[in-house]
Amino acid sequence: QKLQLSLEQIEKGGYDHFMLKEIYEQPKAIIDTYRGRMLANEGIIKMAGVDDNMSKFLNADRIIIVACGTSWHAGLVGEYLFEDMARIPVEVEYASEFRYRNPIITPKDVVIAISQSGETADTLAAIKLAKSKGAFVFGVCNVVGSSIARETHAGAYTHAGPEIGVASTKAFTTQITVLSLIALKLAQAKGTLSTSAVNTYLQTMQQIPAQVESLLKIDAQVKEIAAVYKDAKNCLYLGRGFNFPVALEGALKLKEISYIHAEGYPAAEMKHGPIALIDENMPVFVIATSRGHYEKVVSNIQEIKSRSGKIVAVVTEGDETVKEIADHVIEIPDTEEAFSPLLTTIPFQLLSYHIAVMLGKNVDQPRNLAKSVTVE
Ligand code: AGP
Repeated sequence: QKLQLSLEQIEKGGYDHFMLKEIYEQPKAIIDTYRGRMLANEGIIKMAGVDDNMSKFLNADRIIIVACGTSWHAGLVGEYLFEDMARIPVEVEYASEFRYRNPIITPKDVVIAISQSGETADTLAAIKLAKSKGAFVFGVCNVVGSSIARETHAGAYTHAGPEIGVASTKAFTTQITVLSLIALKLAQAKGTLSTSAVNTYLQTMQQIPAQVESLLKIDAQVKEIAAVYKDAKNCLYLGRGFNFPVALEGALKLKEISYIHAEGYPAAEMKHGPIALIDENMPVFVIATSRGHYEKVVSNIQEIKSRSGKIVAVVTEGDETVKEIADHVIEIPDTEEAFSPLLTTIPFQLLSYHIAVMLGKNVDQPRNLAKSVTVE
């Protein structure tokens, strides 16, 4: 019997869809992102684009991050990282709003533009505007030689490899990896973190790829959860701190490939409106990592429970409290809270994938969407 494989099947490397392949590539993609940059045992972070422009970063009044979609969510994680580790004020802007808002930009601002494709029209326009006002512009791109990579003064590539699925997965985790390294590097240079704290972070980062690898084994469990909630009409995603952007990203992933309406919120905002939506038909996906604002999130979970909402909680391994309350728990390995988005986002990627497949949707090329949005 002749073995006939199409080029596309070969490119998918045995996976049914590019998205699934790219989800599974994340351990390697994260290693590729920090390889040669992070010398964990020596406590060294080498990033030429940052090293060569260190004075710009250290003298910056603030960092403005511009991006769209998933890259904007990575930017939000970046805000938490830069402020927490390097104590530099950060603003995160939708590139499309920033460019038309007559924003206040000065030569003392550092603008970081994040883009997987490096071709997003609004992000490119935001960069040009920032440059015209004298700001230093740093790019975090995946596609080498892309327009944004060329238009920025300096930058750091994510080295995630080609991302074909319209739903961004490995681009997100590798963007967060790059932002973590920059934040740590600036913290080192400013002395806002002690040497031992930086070393602990670097050692912890080194464990992330293996932790993602082990986490991917939950695929079968996530598939079962997907089967339970695939017919939901609306879903809520909640997280706090570093994991608030992951809630936004989880909701975006579900929306774009399964066409189920989903909203992400900071967990504490729930009582300011979204709680009115909660009833027995509303699945709520909550991130409740043990090092986050754990007790606060647990009380949010109790509020959902008392209104009969269905709860799927992403918790740290060994959690007993949430298990008693939630309908389903998905365990992630323990890590520093600052790096937890690299883990907590994985179950949500898998969940969206399985729901979309079960609903018969076109996972890799969802309707109305393009991989890179080169028009505004
Ligand atoms: C993510 O799943 C989306 N397809 C989309 O939001 C994307 O992240 C956005 O268009 C930005 O693209 P970029 O990173 O290539 O600039």
